[in-house]
Amino acid sequence: MPDNLLQSTRNPEDARFEEGLRPRLLDEYVGQAKITENLAVFIAAARARAESLDHVLFFGPPGLGKTTLAHIVANEMGVPLQITSGPVLERAGDLAAILTNIAPGGVLFVDEIHRLGPAVAEILYPAMEDFSLDLVVGTGPAARTMRLTLPRFTLIGATTRAGLLPAPLRDRFGIVHRLDFYESASLSHIVRRSSGLLAIDLDDDSAEEIARRSRGTPRIANRLLRRVRDFAHARGERRVTLETARFGLERLEVDAFGLDELDRRLLVTVIEQYAGGPVGLKALAATLGEDQGTLEDIYEPYLLQTGFLQRTPRGRVATARARRHLGYPVEAGTPGELFDAEGG
Ligand SMILES: Nc1ncnc2c1ncn2[C@@H]1O[C@H](COP(=O)(O)OP(=O)(O)OP(=O)(O)O)[C@@H](O)[C@H]1O
Ligand SMILES: [Mg+2]
Repeated sequence: MPDNLLQSTRNPEDARFEEGLRPRLLDEYVGQAKITENLAVFIAAARARAESLDHVLFFGPPGLGKTTLAHIVANEMGVPLQITSGPVLERAGDLAAILTNIAPGGVLFVDEIHRLGPAVAEILYPAMEDFSLDLVVGTGPAARTMRLTLPRFTLIGATTRAGLLPAPLRDRFGIVHRLDFYESASLSHIVRRSSGLLAIDLDDDSAEEIARRSRGTPRIANRLLRRVRDFAHARGERRVTLETARFGLERLEVDAFGLDELDRRLLVTVIEQYAGGPVGLKALAATLGEDQGTLEDIYEPYLLQTGFLQRTPRGRVATARARRHLGYPVEAGTPGELFDAEGG
C-alpha cells in the first residue's frame, strides 16, 4: 500500500478532498454508535441547560474520525470552533492568547494534545478546571501574578497516543471516548456516501471491496475510492465496476486485508527473525527501527483485532492467519493453527 494512505493530511489537495467528505452532523457520522449516542445525550442536556459541554477527549488510531467529531460537536452545540494543536502551542503565552479570546461557550480543539509541552499544560489545567488563567505580569522583583476569569468553554482534545497524556490532563476530561476500527458494513456505507458526494458512479460490490481493504479506516476508504475512480477514468469507464475496483486495488498494492507496508514488515519480522514469537515489543520496535509507542498505539491494535497478532504474557506472536496470509507454512503449535483455515 502506498505509504501515505494512513497518514494525516499534509498536502493541500488531499486536505480539500477530505474536508469535502467530512460529515457535519451526528446523524451523518457513520458507525461508532456508542460514541454518537452518548454525545447526542450530553449535547442535548448541555443545550437544554444552556451550558457549555464538558471537556471531551477522543483517542484512537489515525483516520478514524476524531477531528471530524470535534467539528460535529461544535456544530451540534451551535458554537464557534477554534482549532490548534499540541506542536503549534510552543509557549505558554501562545495558549494564553487563545484562551483569552475564546468565545463564551465555544469549543477549543487541540489536536495531537499529547504533544503539549509541560509549561503549556500548566496553563491549561486551571483553565479547564476553574476557567481561570494565571498570568505573570512584569519581570524581575516587580513581577506578580494576575488571575483572569475566562468564559466557560469546551476543550476537545484528540490524540493517537493516549498513553502519553499526563494523568492530570487526562483526568480533567469529563467525556472520554476511544474510537475503534470500523466494521466493513460501516465502511461500505461511508464509501457509498462519499461516492454520492463526489458524483462517482459506483457498484455496490465495488464499495464493499474497497471497504474490506481499508484497514478499518474511513480515511483510507475515501482515499482508495478516489484512486479507484482514477483507474476507471484511465480505462475510459464511467462506472466503477467490481473488476475495475479490484484492478485498481491490485495496482495500488493494497492487500486483501488492507494491511500496509509496516503491518506486513512487522508480521514478517516476527515470523522470520523471532521464529513467530513470542517477542517483546521493545525488541520488535528496535528490529523494525520504529518507535515502540507508535507500534503499540497505531499499528498493533488493527493486527490484534483482525487476529494476525496475539499478545501473550511473553510477547507478541504471529498467528496461523498471519502465516497463511503472508505465504508461510503453518507450524504445529502456532496460535490459531486449527482454526481459520479458510486461508484468508
Ligand atoms: N464516521 C465517519 N463517517 C463518515 N466519514 C468519516 C467518519 N470518520 C471519518 N470519516 C472520514 O475520514 C476522514 C478522516 O477523519 P478524521 O480527519 O476525522 O480522522 P482523525 O481521527 O482526526 O485522524 P488523525 O489522527 O490522523 O488526525 C474525514 O475526512 C472523513 O471524511
Ligand atoms: Mg485529526
